[in-house]
Amino acid sequence: MTARVVLLPGDGIGPEVTAAAAAALRRMGEAGGHGFTFDSRPIGGAALKSGQPALPPDTLSACRSADAVFLGAIGNPAFDHLQPSDRPESALLALRRELGLFANLRPARAWPGLERVGPLRPEVLAGTNLVVVRELTGGLYYGEPRGVEDDGAWAVNTMRYSRADIERIAHTAFRLALTRRRRVVSVDKANVLEVSRLWRDVVSGVAGTYPDVTLTHEYVDAAAMKLALAPSSFDVLLTENLFGDILSDEAGAVCGSLGLLPSASLGAGPGLFEPVHGSAPALAGRDVANPIGALASAAMLLRDGLGLADEAQALMRAIEETLAAGLRTADIVAPGETPIGTTTFARAVLSRLQ
Ligand code: IPM
Ligand code: MG
Repeated sequence: MTARVVLLPGDGIGPEVTAAAAAALRRMGEAGGHGFTFDSRPIGGAALKSGQPALPPDTLSACRSADAVFLGAIGNPAFDHLQPSDRPESALLALRRELGLFANLRPARAWPGLERVGPLRPEVLAGTNLVVVRELTGGLYYGEPRGVEDDGAWAVNTMRYSRADIERIAHTAFRLALTRRRRVVSVDKANVLEVSRLWRDVVSGVAGTYPDVTLTHEYVDAAAMKLALAPSSFDVLLTENLFGDILSDEAGAVCGSLGLLPSASLGAGPGLFEPVHGSAPALAGRDVANPIGALASAAMLLRDGLGLADEAQALMRAIEETLAAGLRTADIVAPGETPIGTTTFARAVLSRLQ
């Protein structure tokens, strides 16, 4: 197959981890005899610095005509003084909306060999293998009205969901559950919010068409607690945009490091694949970032973006073998172990790819 992959390195550690992911994709393309082409474009703070808007029109049109998009990270404290609509992050929100990427999948698992790295006791973490299915184009991030009123006397954001919005993300979660352990936990705040009552009602209705999947509902505060106390009890965790943002960071932390988490954002057109960790400005340019989140996102790009399940599996296996060989970046070393850099780790993964 041939595929056009757009690379959006972005800000902070984004370019470093994108280089690792692109090298792995290039290698998988060569190994499978696929004609991948790569097209790198500016976004976020990197675009702002060169005098362009955070999402330059050329970047957006390249993404629209791509087969898949890989994004490193977005965010630069140098632009913290700007209002939300002008900040680097606005590019990511606009891209999600423009590409219709309503379904955000964030798998989190206990990686073999990393049981002692995170904050949980190994026996609590053992067996954890969950996916956060986060609705990505609705809720507080996009709802109107929004804004600052009366010269800053008050401000408003709106959590808004339609039945149709909830139905389509619920179908994504249930279909995914059918390929896994067939359990969906839907997370809301139905004891307080009308939107959550609608969410619960619609998700329960969709569950009727998936008799083989078990659905339970949790309030978001209780779900946050369970995720820390018993992460292995989750299979598919379905939730709205802001709750999913928060719970996916928590899921990353309990599994050892946010640097390990990949994501896929899917809609009708090309998918967007990015590590969850963000731009981590303090680590940028120091060759210390963990490339696993990016490499595992590249694997999701191969599988969910291009339909290349075997190549995706081979890449995941190469990451696991690299960990099994004892190689660790700084965020996942155990006491007494010596960390290696981003490029050395990525090269070690590449050397295990045929
Ligand atoms: C994420 C990030 C983004 C979000 C930011 C950078 C806008 O935190 O992808 O989780 O809030 O969605
Ligand atoms: Mg986030």
